[in-house]
Amino acid sequence: METMAVRTIQDLGDAIAGKAILMRVDFNVPLDKKTGRITNDLRIRQALPTIRYAVERSARTVLMSHLGRPRGKAAPELSMKKVAERLSELLDSSVGFAPDCVGHEVRKMVAEMAGGEVLVLENLRFHPEEEDNDPEFARELASAADFYVNDAFGTAHRAHASTEGVTKFLPSVAGFLIRKEVQYLSKATEQPEHPFVAIMGGAKVKDKIGAIRNLLDAADLLLIGGAMAYTFLKYRGIPVGDSMVEEDKLELAGELLRRAGGKIVLPCDHLCAEEIGEDAEPVAVEREIPDGMIGLDIGPKTAGLYEKEIAGARLVTWNGPVGYMEIDVFAGGTRRIARAMASCAGTCIVGGGETAEIVEELGLQDEMSHVSTGGGACLDFLAGKQLPALAALQQAGKVECCGDQDSAGPDGC
Ligand code: ADP
Ligand code: 3PG
Ligand code: MG
Repeated sequence: METMAVRTIQDLGDAIAGKAILMRVDFNVPLDKKTGRITNDLRIRQALPTIRYAVERSARTVLMSHLGRPRGKAAPELSMKKVAERLSELLDSSVGFAPDCVGHEVRKMVAEMAGGEVLVLENLRFHPEEEDNDPEFARELASAADFYVNDAFGTAHRAHASTEGVTKFLPSVAGFLIRKEVQYLSKATEQPEHPFVAIMGGAKVKDKIGAIRNLLDAADLLLIGGAMAYTFLKYRGIPVGDSMVEEDKLELAGELLRRAGGKIVLPCDHLCAEEIGEDAEPVAVEREIPDGMIGLDIGPKTAGLYEKEIAGARLVTWNGPVGYMEIDVFAGGTRRIARAMASCAGTCIVGGGETAEIVEELGLQDEMSHVSTGGGACLDFLAGKQLPALAALQQAGKVECCGDQDSAGPDGC
């Protein structure tokens, strides 16, 4: 994807004072399945520069997001209320909450806001029209506001009413997070520095084919880990025991291996267990995994090899844990990758929900050049696909600005 040429909130200048800004953020944060508490607030924190910018310029800031996948129906456990509370803590000031995202009451609440106030709307996906990109719903969302700002990079791969449709009804610009994401991720897609090492892990080959294909052209090495490694290994005829294999993707794995011409590196040893569970005993296995054993992490030799490649790289991108990181004894390989990237002198970009979470757990986020808030959006961007929300902003503005050297945002990018 070419460097983004869209206007940002900075281009609106003083025009936003006292005006209502409808800001799409991606506050789709992970929640604890039992308690419902927010387990990682990276996405909220990453949206703060744009929110603060609007607040400091006395805009009336109306934030909208989805949370989870309620499939068009109200689901109390997916209310944005707790997100509004966390935002209030992070901003250290009060944040209003509207019990819906459209309707008379919302319009009234927005009309009554004072400059500098922040209001969070209820979950967009409580309405099926959001994901259907219904034009009437988009018009309704837009009706209370003067400007639209999109800072939801994590949702930029979705053409929904709040990410795409709404741009047809309001002057539309990007926020600083979208600009930062595009600038860093573009380093991997346009003129990457070499050696360029990409690490790809996680559960399924199927989810990451596009990104793998694209990276095979750009990267010098593609280090594979996680469950997806076993589909590649099986194609090569190496016994993988009872490890997770996508039988219907074996041929595809073969095609990618042929195309890679040696660029794909697969694990040569593993940590295995007889079954997946908190008290599973890890067994180190070299090369061939016997029947009855499941590969759950890369082994120490593989980790050492991957660390060496990372250390020598000028550009490293990483998406997807290289092991079953939810169980501590199988998170070791993933932690080693994170630490190796943290000490690498080159540009290091991390993307993906679980991947970003482990980087934060280790407190290494500031050692990375960029931790992307996008999962699917990050992969689609790395795969060279056009993200519909970004395309809509481009369409709306058609004025060059992102990537301009003289328009540094609050985070210096
Ligand atoms: P991300 O969210 O960072 O993009 P993915 O969602 O693609 O990552 O994959 C994360 C999941 O992959 C984790 O839940 C992890 O447990 C799983 N995983 C990694 N390695 C294995 C493995 N060897 N066997 C089974 N699952 C695995
Ligand atoms: C994400 O978590 O990747 C984004 O918030 C998009 O969510 P979705 O996959 O439910 O559309
Ligand atoms: Mg994930």
